[in-house]
Parts: sequence; C-alpha cells; structure tokens
Amino acid sequence: MRRFVATFQLVALQLVIQALELVPVEAVNVTTPTQVSFEGVRQARPVCGISILRAGASMEDALRTAYNGPLSFGKILIQRDEETCLPTHLYSKLPSNIAEGDVFILEPMLATGGSICKAIDIVQGQGVPLQRIVVVSILASEAAIQLVLDKYPGLHIVTAAIDERLNARGQIEPGLGDFGDRFYGTF
Ligand SMILES: *[C@@H]1O[C@H](CO)[C@@H](O)[C@H](O)[C@H]1NC(C)=O
Repeated sequence: MRRFVATFQLVALQLVIQALELVPVEAVNVTTPTQVSFEGVRQARPVCGISILRAGASMEDALRTAYNGPLSFGKILIQRDEETCLPTHLYSKLPSNIAEGDVFILEPMLATGGSICKAIDIVQGQGVPLQRIVVVSILASEAAIQLVLDKYPGLHIVTAAIDERLNARGQIEPGLGDFGDRFYGTF
C-alpha cells in the first residue's frame, strides 16, 4: 500500500499541475531581491476541488500543494443503486461561491463514466459553465472518455492513462484494481 500511495501522490501532483494550466493567472508587479521591478503572474482565481467520495478525496492534498490562490473543497457522494444500477446522488456539500471560479472534479478512476456524468450535472446545476469544469483522473477507460465527451463537448479531462476496455462488472482492464481499497488499505 505504501508504494502504491507514494507513486499515486507523484502522479496526482503532476495531473493537478497540468489541470492548473487551464486556470487563468493574474499579472502582478514585484520588486526582485536585486531591486528590479518585474511583471510576473500569480494564482488569484478561486478554484474549487470537488471529491467524488470516497476515492476522490485522495487527490485533495495534491491540489492544496500545487495551488496558491483561493481554494475551497466540496464533496459529492454518488453510489450505484442496487436495483436500477443507476448512479444515485446521496450527499453533497459544495462551497456557496462555486460559480465564481474554476472547478476540478477529482475522481481517480473513470470506468463506465456514469458517476462522473452525475457529478458534472450537479456542478453545472450550481451555475458553473462547462468550460470551467476540469475532470482530473488517474486512469480512464476509452468508453468513459467517449461517453463524457459526447455528452459534454468542450469539457476538459486530465488523465494519466487511458485503458482500452471494461470487463463484465464494469471494471477497467488492464486497470489497477479498486483504487479506494488500495489507497485506504481496506481489503
Ligand atoms: C506593471 O508595471 C508596468 C510599468 O509601470 C505597467 O505598465 C503595468 O500595467 C503594471 N502591471 C500591473 C499588473 O500592475
């Protein structure tokens, strides 16, 4: 587990840094230690990281590390309904100013894409335009990428790898197993 988590944290940081490239920065004048004035940039725009529970919470630290501007976090719990097999929204707590900045939806694994679509709908329902939503994931299936981009053209997805198929139980193959179990050590 230790090695899995350490490797994941390195990848998560790179993904978040990549996603932050999509967030506009603000020009600022500074005086350098050599007493020269220099026009640089700073992170000033509000960013909200939304974790899809439980696995998404694993990516919050990377965002805290990489972003210096105004930051907030929200949580969404979505579970598959045993009878209908449809993703069901059970709980969410989102910052009230969510529509003022950019929103990163944190979800390490995009398998069927069902939960992430639900999460995008919830975030859009708060008045956040699609162009300001970035899905950050470690591993996605081709099917999920296709579903999400068909449904939400123009949405940004940042991922480290795309795997080719899903098995009959809707798990990514080759995949990496159950992310939450490996990250939290619950077997
Ligand atoms: C920085 O200083 C330059 C020169 O005085 C000025 O033209 C520019 O607008 C300033 N930029 C900001 C962000 O204040």
